[in-house]
Parts: sequence; structure tokens; C-alpha cells
Amino acid sequence: MAVSRFSLIRILADGSFHSCERLGRALGLSRAGVEHQLHGIEALGLRISKVRGRGYRLAEPVDLLDRDALAARLRKSSPVLSVEVRDECASTSTALAAEGTAHGTVLVCEHQSAGRGRRGNTWFSAPARGLTFSLLWRFSQGAAGLAGLSLAVAVGAVRALERLGMEGVQLKWPNDLYCGGRKLGGILIESSGDALGPSTVIVGLGLNVRLDPALRGRIDRPVTDLASCGGAAVPPRTVLLGALLESLAEVLTRFAREGFAPFRDDWQRRHAWQGRRVRLALAGRVAEGEALGVAEDGALVLSSSRGVERFHSGELSLRRA
Ligand code: BTN
Repeated sequence: MAVSRFSLIRILADGSFHSCERLGRALGLSRAGVEHQLHGIEALGLRISKVRGRGYRLAEPVDLLDRDALAARLRKSSPVLSVEVRDECASTSTALAAEGTAHGTVLVCEHQSAGRGRRGNTWFSAPARGLTFSLLWRFSQGAAGLAGLSLAVAVGAVRALERLGMEGVQLKWPNDLYCGGRKLGGILIESSGDALGPSTVIVGLGLNVRLDPALRGRIDRPVTDLASCGGAAVPPRTVLLGALLESLAEVLTRFAREGFAPFRDDWQRRHAWQGRRVRLALAGRVAEGEALGVAEDGALVLSSSRGVERFHSGELSLRRA
């Protein structure tokens, strides 16, 4: 059986030194095989310390997901969800798009190598330093009935973080998580189905927990992580993930019955740019004005020289003073 670099990461996750011989015995690999896997781990951005006579260990602790603890928690709290945790995948959202995936299926990957963002962007993440997962949900309604879904999901994510004592997380329209004016997390909603229903939605969420300094340099916009936000200490990733999934299951269940309306006040209270001068790039024009918040269908409401206008799409940025 092929040995994955995560098998080695799991052994090294105890923080102690391990000799090459001991690692080789545990994994059924030759010395060269162990060295190959160690290089693979470094290629993922995890640093390894090597000390002559003692062996190898991870230079920093790594907080891997605890599959059993997560499954046990969700079995009790959110039985609608069925979670699979994989070590590596290209994109959790792409993987869930396979035909026949059941309602409530969640796929989490410790390392996502080709994460996708909105508008064709790439979602960059390093193993075990963030959360990258997708959740498939089936709705009886069609596209029109799903207006505001991505905003409701963002509310669900912030509620989970707040329940864990995290402070200062805000929302940027339509569904970015912000903290201190920088992007903390993003949500990708992909839906398919008939215009009048039913529809299938894949909700993908990427959250920076402890950003890797090298990764920070590759992202061409201001980013932040939970460890830099205010409030309680960041809990283990398994706890974070459990809380996020529970909250999302609650939100999606309620959204299916009531739409975005019951989430609007919560969204608006956390609106990062409420009352600020903003710029919305649309297909054929740019709209500028004061951000008044969101409507009951999730549209962005702007007050501009043309009056009060509502927008359902576009790329929003702050207007330079
Ligand atoms: C954005 O802000 O542009 C949305 C980012 C969404 C990233 C998540 S990570 C898990 C899921 N899988 C993907 O490929 N993308 C989403």
C-alpha cells in the first residue's frame, strides 16, 4: 500500500524526535523512502528539525483533525451530516460534485492542493493551518428561492465562531468573513438543478486558522487568520470544524423553510462596511455609493447619485477617500 506523507505527519505530530530507522519500521519504508516522505512534508510547508543522534521532528506542533471525535460529536448534534475527512484532495467542492452525492455529505481535506474561490480565484491554504471543507445540501426550491443563501451561510459561520468566544469577525458582501479589515475566510456556493427546483447546492468554506507566513506572501490581498482576531484562544481545529458544521446545518435547515429573511438582521449587524463609501464593479459599469446594507433577498443596497439601488452581483471594494 502506498504510504502517504500524512502517515508520517501523524507520527511526527507527537512533537518528539523519531529516528529514521524507527520511522522506516513504522511505515514499512526504506531509509530512502522515509527521506522522500520527509521532503514531501517540507514541500507542504511544514518544517522538520533534524538533530544528529536523535532523528527528526516537526519544528512546530501540528493540529491535525480528530476524525473520531468529530464524527462522534456530529452523530449526536447534527445527524443529518455525514462527514468524511481526507488527508489530501484537489478541491473539496469539486470532489463533492460527483453524481449521486447524498444530502448532508461533508468532505473535509487536511490539505487542498487546488482550492477554488469565487470569480475563478484560487483559494490558497497550507495543511492543518486552516479549514477547507464542503457540504452538499438539497433544496426543493429552484434558483430564485435560493437568493441570499450565501449570506445566510456566512451568518452561520460567524455565529459558530462567536459561540466559541471569537470576537471581531465581520462580513463583507456577499459572503466573505473579515477581521480587522482583512479577509479571514471565504465561501463558495455552487448550485445546480431546475430553475423551479429542486436544486443541489455545494457550500464550500475556507477559513484561515493560523496562516503560514510563506503562504501569506503568495496571497495578493490583505488577509488575516483567527489567531490574530480578538477574543478567546483559538480552539483545536476539530472543535472549530464541529461548531461550524453544526451551525451550518442549522442555518441550511432554516433557510430551506424561511429563506434569508430571518438571517438579515444578523448579517447587517456584522456588516464590515456599513455606511462606508464603496465601489461595485459590475459587468458593464461601476456603481459607487454608500453601503446601506442588504435587502431581504440578500441584494446589496447602495445609495448613489442615481438613488437607492439594489445589486445581486458584482465585486465590492472600499472606495479610496
Ligand atoms: C472565496 O472567497 O473566493 C471563496 C473561497 C472558498 C474556498 C473553499 S475551501 C473549501 C472549498 N473547496 C474549494 O475548492 N473552495 C472552497
